[in-house]
Amino acid sequence: MLRLECVSRRFGGLEAVKELDLDVPAGARLGLIGPNGSGKTTVLNLISGVLAPDAGAIRLGGARIDGRPAHRFARLGIARTFQNLRLVAHMTVRENVWLAQHTLPAPRAARVEDLLAALGLAAWRDTPVSALPLPQQRRVELARALAREPKVLLLDEPAGGMTPAETQEMGDLVARLVPAETALVVVEHKLDLVARLCPRIAVLDFGRKIAEGAPGEVLNDAKVMEVYFGRDRGDA
Ligand SMILES: Nc1ncnc2c1ncn2[C@@H]1O[C@H](COP(=O)(O)OP(=O)(O)OP(=O)(O)O)[C@@H](O)[C@H]1O
Ligand SMILES: [Mg+2]
Repeated sequence: MLRLECVSRRFGGLEAVKELDLDVPAGARLGLIGPNGSGKTTVLNLISGVLAPDAGAIRLGGARIDGRPAHRFARLGIARTFQNLRLVAHMTVRENVWLAQHTLPAPRAARVEDLLAALGLAAWRDTPVSALPLPQQRRVELARALAREPKVLLLDEPAGGMTPAETQEMGDLVARLVPAETALVVVEHKLDLVARLCPRIAVLDFGRKIAEGAPGEVLNDAKVMEVYFGRDRGDA
């Protein structure tokens, strides 16, 4: 479904992503981990068209999508959440989720209500999102992404800033609500959450992939231990 081939992106002299290959078939769940600044969000920005690669190719269902204008990507079936949240603060929960459907040929109010119920947001439906606690705001972000019925779903720290109990609940929601055929990429510092959701994990360090495999293999890899656990354990 989604494939990155030798993708690189620099910011001035900084190589944020370097010769990255990733393969995420339909229905796959890939965890993307690495220390702060290792390039995880940049990878999501490249896949979602926020940034263009300097080199390499990004393919969706075989067709090259890199280099297209950013507004085209949502219509291609790529949806994401943001580490720092991109909600319309003064609008209600329902309005935020409704607006996310603008990329669909036929927005449906019933689908919005179903999503709000499934995400435990029904009680907040008429509340401005600025008044919600952070875990509920992250749920609205997830609802917005799911409302687009994406083929590829990218989650950037879906449990960022959450307590262990809230993290557990977010994990339950992702496991339950992401459709089986969706290709899912999860960026997270909380490794227990990544290991639970994703049978495969790729590890970035200074923009390079240094390991990829099952959680049990990757998290015990000596290289990964050194660069990831040795330097910065994040809030895992
Ligand atoms: N738009 C930009 N302009 C300049 N530098 C950038 C830009 N975006 C990211 N960077 C730099 O690229 C590197 C990778 O950043 P990125 O945000 O992808 O890391 P990350 O792995 O998501 O980190 P974190 O875990 O802290 O979210 C960092 O050194 C960052 O400062
Ligand atoms: Mg990031």
